[in-house]
Amino acid sequence: MAYETIIVETRSKVGLVTLNRPKALNALNSQVLADLLASCRAFEADADIGAIVITGSEKAFAAGADIKEMQSKSYVDAYMEDFFSGWEDFTRIRKPIIAAVSGYALGGGCELAMMCDFIIASDNAKFGQPEITLGVMPGMGGSQRLTRFVGKAKAMDMCLTGRMMDAAEAERTGLVSRVVATSDLLEEALKAAAKIAGFSLPAVMMAKEAVNRAYETTLSEGLRFERRLFHSMFALEDQKEGMAAFTEKRQANFKNR
Ligand code: HXC
Repeated sequence: MAYETIIVETRSKVGLVTLNRPKALNALNSQVLADLLASCRAFEADADIGAIVITGSEKAFAAGADIKEMQSKSYVDAYMEDFFSGWEDFTRIRKPIIAAVSGYALGGGCELAMMCDFIIASDNAKFGQPEITLGVMPGMGGSQRLTRFVGKAKAMDMCLTGRMMDAAEAERTGLVSRVVATSDLLEEALKAAAKIAGFSLPAVMMAKEAVNRAYETTLSEGLRFERRLFHSMFALEDQKEGMAAFTEKRQANFKNR
């Protein structure tokens, strides 16, 4: 399928989506949302894909929601179309998604990165929620996800002053999982995704579901949810194979990957 705003490729068992609106620093308009959702849904349906990487350009992962597209909206437009609610569909993708972030990840760009399962950043990455400078506030989850990821003090600082965080601060505060040299970013992200895609897909998907549950529920309910999923794993052929491979000192050959 041909997309207008993204480039879609596969690298073995990894689906790669590159945001491609270079003239607008990958600003996220409604077409980007439609293209991103369609591509991720296609990867979700493709049994040969075990993980997805989303990236942008070296200069910008995404410089935010498209300001020019939303500039003239009225309150009733925003309310009636439930503006930005479509991004919730993106968080329903069940296969793992890595954000490979180079350059600017601002506003909706930072929020999109946070909707992915984890972020690998290049050393030139800059994260921020500059909406306050436009007379608004985050609208794609920034006030909620950023606060859960980096805590109240940093989230307030970012949302109220609009300042950017560099890659080192983002790693120190837990926003990103790793920082790598800009030239290595895509290779490192694809390597991590290929590693994940080599494991048992149902085990990977359940692990994703369980970690995400931690953001939705109490500790005791989350622990119960984890235990039930864990119990169910003894029904997987891949559990038998993984544990047999360990005891037989050989590489596991998972069926469901
Ligand atoms: C639309 C954008 C854009 C955006 C950049 N561009 N960001 N277009 N929406 N979010 C466009 C510019 O207008 C310009 O187009 C081209 O991309 C290059 O940008 P420059 O500003 O010339 O580049 P540079 O000087 O290098 O500065 C980079 C930048 C700056 C610091 C990232 O572009 C910037 O501040 N962008 C806006 C960042 C932002 O405020 N993001 C939050 C958006 S609001 P032309 O045609 O002029 O060449 C959001 C959620 C809102 O995400 C929620 C509200 C409900």
